[in-house]
Amino acid sequence: MKLTSEDALKLLSETEETIIDQTWIKHSKSVGKAVGIIAEKLNLDIDKAIALGYIHDIGKKFNYKHDGVFPHIMHGYKYLKSLGYDEEYAGICLKHSFLNNDIDCLSNNRDKTDESNPDYDFVKNYISSDYTIYDKIINLCDLMCSDKIMTVEKRLIDLLVRHGVYKNTRYHIKETLKLKKYFDELLGFNLYDLFPEIKENL
Ligand SMILES: [Fe+2]
Repeated sequence: MKLTSEDALKLLSETEETIIDQTWIKHSKSVGKAVGIIAEKLNLDIDKAIALGYIHDIGKKFNYKHDGVFPHIMHGYKYLKSLGYDEEYAGICLKHSFLNNDIDCLSNNRDKTDESNPDYDFVKNYISSDYTIYDKIINLCDLMCSDKIMTVEKRLIDLLVRHGVYKNTRYHIKETLKLKKYFDELLGFNLYDLFPEIKENL
């Protein structure tokens, strides 16, 4: 079943009423907005892009603890599958955390993404297949949005300040900058030109 942006927003709104910390909901809405703007410029399916942006962190609704089982990504994946949504919608819950089809390319190790994790092989194999352009846009916008849209440079510093440095931080930063450049080249101009509000969020 396809997930429309309207239905994705409903899933977020239902959750909004039941949780206290709504930071990630605001972030998800911000990601949806940003991906929609980029998708429009690239003549992609705008509604699909927005739906994926809204839904990528839905696993956080389960208020996970850091129990070493890929908490929010697996929870989100299984949740969307259980609701009957197509693989590409459930899949974004897994793919958004890892750049470059690489299980080691992520911004921190809070989800304990190592071999001791029972879902390690499944996730590693899942994300190893090529990412669609939609997956790549979500990857990028996840790293451009808190509850506001900002540059990846600003967002990466925010993440560093909040979560510190771990062994793959440098690799992740380099791949993030490469991803930004990839979209600059695809668009033929600096992607930040699409977001004039970025200047206010520096
Ligand atoms: Fe996110």
